Amino acid sequence: MKHFTNFRKGFKNSFTDFVSDDFFDGEELDFHRSINGYKPIPLTQLITKPPVLSNRNIWIKDESKRFHLKAFKALGASFAIKKFIDNNPGQYVFCTATDGNHGRAVAWASAINCMQAVIFVPISVANETIQLIRQERAEVRVVNSDYDHAVKVAAEFAHDTGSVLIQDTSFEGYSEIPGLIMKGYLTQMRESEFTLPDTVILQAGVGTWAASVILFFLKYFPDNIPKFIIVEPEEVAGCLESAKVGYIVKASGKYQTVMAGLNCPTPATEAIKVLTRCVDHFIGIPDELVSQAQEIYKKNEIDSGSTGASGLAGLLAVAEIEGLLDESDKNILIFNTEGKISNDSEDL
Ligand SMILES: Cc1ncc(COP(=O)(O)O)c(C=O)c1O
Repeated sequence: MKHFTNFRKGFKNSFTDFVSDDFFDGEELDFHRSINGYKPIPLTQLITKPPVLSNRNIWIKDESKRFHLKAFKALGASFAIKKFIDNNPGQYVFCTATDGNHGRAVAWASAINCMQAVIFVPISVANETIQLIRQERAEVRVVNSDYDHAVKVAAEFAHDTGSVLIQDTSFEGYSEIPGLIMKGYLTQMRESEFTLPDTVILQAGVGTWAASVILFFLKYFPDNIPKFIIVEPEEVAGCLESAKVGYIVKASGKYQTVMAGLNCPTPATEAIKVLTRCVDHFIGIPDELVSQAQEIYKKNEIDSGSTGASGLAGLLAVAEIEGLLDESDKNILIFNTEGKISNDSEDL
């Protein structure tokens, strides 16, 4: 297990350090409400808890209920594509690179706008995931390398063919679309009532989603900002490693993990600014904890994929690290960010 307490964390962070006021105009929630099949997901509580968590209230945002796609990624891709088309009316081919959920979301959002999609996946992506993306009527191309390289290939494809890159990570010279994706994710926090948490646990791939949730708290609860803990696979802990040195580095490690959605070695440039300034702890967890977390979700009748369960797996890990959670960490918010990819198979 890896653990880094973030001594760079600033104590007077304001959302204005990272985004403008327009970021919080609420347009994304109005848009998502207009999509056929949209239903707000309420927060629920974990009822059957392991002894180590018995004196905490665990609040869960269960994204396995998000459309038929069973992952929050649908919120970001759909909003970015809608805004792009609004601002640039026309017929387009959209493309992206993905570990699974984001590509499926881009494929779906392209199809509902009657546009084509080309999705690039790294070699590690499971066949079943590829099939699910194809079912959303996209063309899938496998890149014989890791996620970072697939992002490069997708960006080159966009450049060479005139198609539009809808990427959920930012890098030098590319931040507008990921900014819209980050804004699209805000619906998740806006749509339901919740008790203000003391601690929020967020699993990170490139960190875009975690940054969006953090910005929501900076904006709406500036005087009660919770403790934030980032969870990554210990084999792909790019956010932890970058926060530690204070600049973006590609994760060291084998890039092999059951947490497929987090198998992203290099953090997003815009997200890491937020994470480095606002996160209290970064942890890198072993795969074994994920199956324990999935068992707990199962007992609570919650459908969780491996990446989905990694937030709870991270909570199990931090509950064991001395001094990381104390008496004041009573209400803890975690996210089941995806359901299993199908009922009859192990997930990604
Ligand atoms: C289910 C799930 N959870 C969490 C994440 C992490 O999101 P991000 O890459 O924005 O950090 C992903 C990314 O693909 C995902 O698919």
